[in-house]
Amino acid sequence: MNALTDQFGRRIEYLRISVTDRCNFRCLYCMPAEGLEWLPKRDILTYEEITAIVAQLAPLGLRRLRITGGEPTIRPDLVSLVRMLRAVPGIEDIALSTNGVRLPEMASALADAGLDRVNMSADSLRADRIASIARRNLGFDPRRAALAAEQTGLTPVKINMVVMRGINDDEVEDFARLTLEHAWHVRFIELMPVGDMRALTWDHVVPSDEILSRISALGSLTADSGPERGNGPAAYYRFSGAPGCVGVITPMTHTYCGSCNRVRLTADGRLRTCLYGDHEVNLRDPLRAGENLQPLYVQALADKPREHHLLQMQVGGLRALSQVGG
Ligand code: 5AD
Ligand code: SF4
Repeated sequence: MNALTDQFGRRIEYLRISVTDRCNFRCLYCMPAEGLEWLPKRDILTYEEITAIVAQLAPLGLRRLRITGGEPTIRPDLVSLVRMLRAVPGIEDIALSTNGVRLPEMASALADAGLDRVNMSADSLRADRIASIARRNLGFDPRRAALAAEQTGLTPVKINMVVMRGINDDEVEDFARLTLEHAWHVRFIELMPVGDMRALTWDHVVPSDEILSRISALGSLTADSGPERGNGPAAYYRFSGAPGCVGVITPMTHTYCGSCNRVRLTADGRLRTCLYGDHEVNLRDPLRAGENLQPLYVQALADKPREHHLLQMQVGGLRALSQVGG
């Protein structure tokens, strides 16, 4: 079946599924050091419930899934969820967004269960700085994590760096250089000053044009269609002869709402049709009551807003990204 389109003609075939709001990191731009108020376990969808939701939506044109968090790999037995989702007819692509900490130990089991690929976060390549940005020292080694993903076939491997002026922006060139040696696709993300992270303001935002102009000193950079598989809003470039691409994701300086192809499912079973604002439909309670979710989904897509207003800094209703699955 063809993907449903919303009232603005956007085809919705991509669902991001948050499996937990918890995380083993406390990144400066994402969570307060003391953590957030976590969802109680009874409110969180079981793997069976997540799979049942996906099975109801797949006939409406859902094809691609991304498992997110919080940090999805800290939920016990994530491998089982991958296996269950893989068995849903119509699902063509399953990706995982992770902070990468547990990739070295989990990559091969995830790949065996049917995961297609991973995006991992890495905001620094220096151990001390990783620990200070993530406010936890878990011995995370981004290169090792990316290699583990690559070697188990979870490709294309994408690495997301949130660039913060005065905090890690001096490593932009080092990250760009990774693409000269590896078929890793490094994406620079503009910091969004959201949630309660008041300390990180516009002063720390580095516009993507500035990032591109800085890394273009490393070699000749041309626009590229990017890694073959992806759903996202990144604009890609490639250094001449490089195996990997660099990309920019620009929530603060550009909007890409016009080509938005996605909806989100929170860990407690609310369908969010826009990352920002309050467009949510509770699917968990109707599911637990044995109701058909398809009419609710169709209505939610009809109500999906045309665009968000983050650029105007009207961030009403935006919660920490860990609570909505990024
Ligand atoms: N600004 C930009 N990106 C963010 N992420 C989370 N919080 C923010 C923020 N304030 C995204 C980044 C990170 C992923 C886990 O979520 O991509 O790598
Ligand atoms: Fe965890 Fe990702 Fe948030 Fe960092 S950004 S605290 S890794 S959910």
